[in-house]
Amino acid sequence: MNEVIQNAVKALAPLCGDNCKIGLILGSGLGGYAEKIENKRFMSYSDLPGFPQSRVQGHKGRFVIGELFGKTVICMQGRFHFYEGYPQSDIAIPIRVMKLLGVEKLLLTNAAGGVNLDFSQGDLMIISDHINFSGSHPLIGPNDDDFGPRFPDQSNVYDRDLRAGVREAAKKAGVKLQEGVYMMFSGPSFESPAEIVFSRIVGASAVGMSTVPEAIAAAHCGIKTVGISLITNMAAGIADQSLSHEEVQETAAVASEKFSKLVDQIVSDVF
Ligand code: HPA
Repeated sequence: MNEVIQNAVKALAPLCGDNCKIGLILGSGLGGYAEKIENKRFMSYSDLPGFPQSRVQGHKGRFVIGELFGKTVICMQGRFHFYEGYPQSDIAIPIRVMKLLGVEKLLLTNAAGGVNLDFSQGDLMIISDHINFSGSHPLIGPNDDDFGPRFPDQSNVYDRDLRAGVREAAKKAGVKLQEGVYMMFSGPSFESPAEIVFSRIVGASAVGMSTVPEAIAAAHCGIKTVGISLITNMAAGIADQSLSHEEVQETAAVASEKFSKLVDQIVSDVF
């Protein structure tokens, strides 16, 4: 097994204990949710030998471990992106670390551009499925049979039962929840208007630059996954304005209360 994974597990295990079954990955502008975790223990990615480092503005770059609603969680405050130059197999590393630490359920969150014309800026969307349009794949290379099979099934990457639970949780929390297919582009540019038309034709409701490699790696090793996108902007060419990372972060800040409410309800009722 990969030495980087083994070393990270060794370093994190004492902080996680033997009942850490929930993983959280917080996307662009959404890292603030980690402040809600109680009895926090921290591990910076830079303190883990060989571990990838996060370099995006608004991403902190550490694991936060602690308790939410009496449950132990391990949270990535900042994630790794394909556009930073990491092979997608590196993006799988923290997922595999979580698996070895005992994580059974994973909540992936991201900022995304809205493609579905019924969506509005600030909406939350549960991911029903994805289209991997990134041009790569996290499982390219020799298969590590310790984690899963060479040709893993992808029919239920975003677990059907958990999704039903999340829809109920959203109702209970009074949070409107859209649902749709997330299409991953490599970035780092935002998509062109023509690419957004294309994404709509092939069935996407939202586009983004993350999440898919993590979800594939999680499905491969048998972690049940839920994905939530915050629609920080309508995608290129829909509104008559240009897109920016600042806008993504501003919308995330405005929507953070609603986002927190939903994540609270998911962790307390569904996970
Ligand atoms: N495209 C890709 N990724 C994104 C977007 C977008 O419009 N908004 C936030 N992340």
